[in-house]
Amino acid sequence: MKRLNIGIIGGGTVGSSALSLLWKRKALFEHMGFDLHLSPVLVRDPNKTREFEYPNVTFSDDPAVLEQADIVLALMGGTTKVLEFMLGQLKAGKPIITANKAVLAERWDALKPYSENGQLYFESSVMAGTPVIGPLCGTLRSSDTLELHAILSGTCNYILTRMEAGASYDDALIEAQDLGYAEDPPTLDVGGFDAAHKLCVLARMTVDPDFAFAKLEVKGIEGLSSERVQTAVKNGKRVKLVGSIVPNGSEWQAKVRPVILDADHPLAQAASSRNTLLFNGDACGTVIVQGGGAGGMVTASAVIGDLIDHLAGVSGHKPRPEVTKVPVGFYAEVFEEI
Ligand SMILES: NC(=O)c1ccc[n+]([C@@H]2O[C@H](COP(=O)([O-])OP(=O)(O)OC[C@H]3O[C@@H](n4cnc5c(N)ncnc54)[C@H](OP(=O)(O)O)[C@@H]3O)[C@@H](O)[C@H]2O)c1
Repeated sequence: MKRLNIGIIGGGTVGSSALSLLWKRKALFEHMGFDLHLSPVLVRDPNKTREFEYPNVTFSDDPAVLEQADIVLALMGGTTKVLEFMLGQLKAGKPIITANKAVLAERWDALKPYSENGQLYFESSVMAGTPVIGPLCGTLRSSDTLELHAILSGTCNYILTRMEAGASYDDALIEAQDLGYAEDPPTLDVGGFDAAHKLCVLARMTVDPDFAFAKLEVKGIEGLSSERVQTAVKNGKRVKLVGSIVPNGSEWQAKVRPVILDADHPLAQAASSRNTLLFNGDACGTVIVQGGGAGGMVTASAVIGDLIDHLAGVSGHKPRPEVTKVPVGFYAEVFEEI
């Protein structure tokens, strides 16, 4: 049995669930030939009370705890401190598994070389436990992208669903915050930036390895009137925040904005806090993936899935190696913007 020291940065919603799932799958890791050991978990406040199942876990605010780790799970948000922690480990040659889409989207300049050499795993960063990054970097890469459309924010989907049922934007937002879906302040979610971070990661996996975050067009759902949303419903339509990667002249365009969809459109089927991705490739045709897009255990399932892949010898997620040729004579689906 090979001893494997796991380092974890973050013991919050995702970190605590990852601890519980690691413990639950202990026998699986043993069958794979690995005896798991945890380094003290790196957090901001080691004295905080946390809920998870894994015996004898210790917590520390000293980044030196990562030194003994063979592999690190980076499960904290932000773009600055987390990048510093990640680069320290990546430069030491260790693999990193992260759920942090913001740092991937905004600090790709620093992280791209480690993604290219297979050291970075980030399935959980987009649509949490619903697998999209792995398939897009694997099986689906034999197809050239024609278009991609996705519902990537469970929070916005929840708020819009409540507005369709008659709630005002303000009331639906408070409900989402009470349920722990929306952050406080909620700008990242309702401003569309959380979805934009995820769409940017998808753009680098499908059309352009250097797609710049600044090139994304972003419009959120703030201030959307419930009258307009309900009028759409009365006309048999649904309102969703959709991220799209589509050909635009000789370039690829990526944008996030609220749109009106026919009620029977596959993207309109994502209920409440769920996510959906529609990928149209020149060889595979249309592929649709739907599932949970947030939540501690749903996200941890992809984090631990990445760990299992790594231990099975599967490389990390690599960006598309070249810019995908923009298709000529293909017209991507156009949605009415609200
Ligand atoms: N929650 C989800 O459903 C979900 C889904 C997909 C992806 N993600 C991503 O996963 C990441 C973690 O999300 P989360 O919901 O678990 O966040 P969270 O509940 O706020 O937990 C963040 C953790 O990071 C620790 N931390 C923050 N700053 C730190 C620092 N400077 N040094 C050491 N530790 C620090 C915190 O320590 P303390 O506990 O001591 O404060 C906390 O344990 C984020 O990037 C998020 O976007 C989350």
